[in-house]
Amino acid sequence: MTHTIKFWAVVPAAGVGKRMNADRPKQYLDLAGKTVIEHTLLRLLQAEVFTAVAVAISEEDPYWAELDVARHEQIIRAKGGKERADSVLSGLHSIRDHAHDDDWVLVHDAARPCITPSDIHHLIDSLVDDDVGGILALPCADTLKSLKGHNILGTLDRSHIWRALTPQMFRYASLKTALEQAVGNPAITDEASALELQGKQPKIVEGRPDNIKITRPEDLALAHFFMEQQ
Ligand code: C5P
Repeated sequence: MTHTIKFWAVVPAAGVGKRMNADRPKQYLDLAGKTVIEHTLLRLLQAEVFTAVAVAISEEDPYWAELDVARHEQIIRAKGGKERADSVLSGLHSIRDHAHDDDWVLVHDAARPCITPSDIHHLIDSLVDDDVGGILALPCADTLKSLKGHNILGTLDRSHIWRALTPQMFRYASLKTALEQAVGNPAITDEASALELQGKQPKIVEGRPDNIKITRPEDLALAHFFMEQQ
């Protein structure tokens, strides 16, 4: 029996964001009158492509339930996990009764609020006929050095080095299997690396440079600026 391929979003949002030095996790900091995570989720919903958006929230999180978006009919709350990969897996479990093995899942960091619906469509249009899937990424503008301690050992060939962004788009079953087998492996810092461990070669699709991840305090001002420009 054939079925229409669906698109799901999974948003890991259970991190504490220590590098922000703030009184709350970075996804709940204010950015132009809304929390970071509200911007992120509203932009995913604006893309009008997802059947549902599963958001992994820590069980001890006192902030999520206060947000209007928590009650949006397309938003599903999943349990946050110890590592990012655990949170993404939990998001996948939360949609298991509705998702088909070959449906597409786009995993997007809660801490990337400047994602544009057009970049989401660009990723989907570029990969929808691909067997494996892939990620938004950016070529590296800086010269890259490999180090021993604080001494430079050499200069890397940056033409082969891209920075991984999100969303990262994979088939439901292959993403779930790859993450289950990768759990606990510290080298798995994104979904693509879990697929790579399976011998797969995800594609890269060039994304927008304003799709930044809020990591340090100054990133909030930068995100605000990018939103005004968009
Ligand atoms: O810490 P970092 O910026 O790499 O986190 C990326 C995303 O993964 C954030 O949206 C964060 O909330 C999420 N995360 C998670 N569960 C964890 C750790 C991080 O959902 N245990």
